[in-house]
Order: sequence, then structure tokens, then C-alpha cells
Amino acid sequence: NESKYLLYKGLLVPKICHTPESLKYAEEFCVRDDDVFAVTYPKSGTTWMQEIIPLILSDGDLTPIQTIPTWDRMPWLEETRAQLFLDSRPSPRAIVSHLWYQHMPPSFFKSKAKVIYVTRNPKDVIVSSFHFHQMATFLDDPGTFDEFLEKCLTGKTFFGKWTDHVKSWRTPELKDRILYITYEEMKQDLRAAVVKFSQFLGKTISDEIIDKITENCIFKNMKQNNMSNFSLVPNEIMDSSKSEFLRKGISGDWKNYFTTPQNEYFNSVYQKEMKDTEIQFPWD
Ligand code: PPS
Repeated sequence: NESKYLLYKGLLVPKICHTPESLKYAEEFCVRDDDVFAVTYPKSGTTWMQEIIPLILSDGDLTPIQTIPTWDRMPWLEETRAQLFLDSRPSPRAIVSHLWYQHMPPSFFKSKAKVIYVTRNPKDVIVSSFHFHQMATFLDDPGTFDEFLEKCLTGKTFFGKWTDHVKSWRTPELKDRILYITYEEMKQDLRAAVVKFSQFLGKTISDEIIDKITENCIFKNMKQNNMSNFSLVPNEIMDSSKSEFLRKGISGDWKNYFTTPQNEYFNSVYQKEMKDTEIQFPWD
């Protein structure tokens, strides 16, 4: 009964896509000044960013999203596939990461690379992750929702605790190199988010192309794109009969899962861990 995870700097990372070599590659990675990172705690909108950012960088050319799967189009810095593409890819490169701030490679801190940090309501993250753990055979079975909630709150799932991840990235050092956005804002007004990202990345894009990008990135359209909906992954790895990867794509699904005591318990832990921060979220 071998573990499905590696332990990396105290964090569990799934062995299917992380190896000592891939993690070493990330540590030694040469960040370029014009690299664009989207950083997320898992289940917070990574795939969504893998759709939006390449479209912005290609001025709305649909070729990348129609021909390259999400994971190769905007690879994870820490995953095995990064080294297949990143070194030879022309700038500007688009890269995602689930790493904590302090685990980024030294070259990142010296660079001018920009970061978009996406945060999602942690209760919805837990619900999304619960379903993901049911369908992904490379992750531990989540057990009951109550058991899984406890695991999340004690940091015993991949990439540690949500609160630690979010707090690590709230660093003043990055100044205007980082843009914070929430999944909920993107859900509420995707077009405004696309405009915000384009401006942040210094891209001037016509209204017409902004409309086109937005249209392509709405949930129901992404769900129909075989390069983005994970249908390329065999059922032995992701069992779509248990749950789909692009599952519901909504805010507030936690209300269908958390009981009142679970919600109170979550809130008490959350408030304790976030009390020393000044971060305000739409769900607070
Ligand atoms: S992962 O495994 O970390 O890469 O997962 P991640 O992509 O971060 O999160 C998956 C959740 O994001 C939802 N998603 C979207 N929501 C709204 N609109 C769009 N376009 C979209 N694309 C992905 C996806 O459905 C997962 O959330 P749930 O709540 O499970 O549906």
C-alpha cells in the first residue's frame, strides 16, 4: 500500500505528476522577466487560467486552446511536463503553479515576472477537491465529507493548508508584480476579469477580441473543448463516472455539502488562522 504522494518541503504532492526531478527542475528554473505566472491553491481556478491567459497572450488566436491540452499550454512549474516545454518555449511563457511563495525558485524573486494569484472561497475549494479525490485514482480516497473536511483543515491534503498558501502569497515584496483576483469575481464578471488581466499584462486588446476570449472561457464552452475538459485523460486515471473535472463551475456549492456544525467548525478554524491578516474576501 505505497503512498500516492511525495513529501516536498512538508507538503504532500501527488506522485503521478511530481517527481524529485521535476521538483528539482522547478527549484533551478530560470524565470524570465516576461514570464507570466498564475498561482493557485488546487481547485481554485487553475484550468480556467490555463484557458484565459494563453488566449490573452495570443491576442485571441484560438489555435493554442484548440490544439494543445491545458496542462501543456500553460504547464505547472513543479510538474513533470514542465521540462518538456518551458526551456524551449518563446517568450512570453505562461506557467501555472500551486507552490507556496517561499518555494518559488530563487530566479523568480530576482525577476520582473508577473503573477496573477487566484483565490477561491475555501469552502467551495473543499467541495471541489472532495469530488476530485473521488474521481482521481492517483489521490487518496477522501472518505466521508466529514473526514475530508478534517483532513483539509489540518493540512493533510495536497499542497497543505489553504490558509497557509493564501497567506504566503500576500507578500508586500512583489508590489505591482502581483494581481490578486478571486474565482468569485471571475464568475460574476468574466469580461471584466479578462480586461483586468490584459491591462495587468500590458496587452492592448480590442473590445471584439476581449468578447471572443470571454466567450471561449465561460464554463459551458470550456466544457465542450476536448483540450480543456480533461476528456483526454483515461478513465483509469480520472474516472468521469464518479465526477467530472469541470464539475459544476459555480460559487456557493458548499451550502449543499456543509452541515451547520461543519460550517461552524470551519468558520472557527478559518477565523483563528486568518485573524492576523488584513485580507478581505467577498465571502468573509
Ligand atoms: S486543479 O486540479 O487544481 O487544476 O483544479 P482547478 O482547475 O484549480 O479547479 C477546478 C475547479 O474550477 C472549475 N472551473 C471553472 N469554473 C467556472 N468557469 C470555468 N470556465 C471553469 N473552469 C474550471 C471546475 O469546474 C472546478 O470546480 P468545481 O466546483 O469542482 O466545478
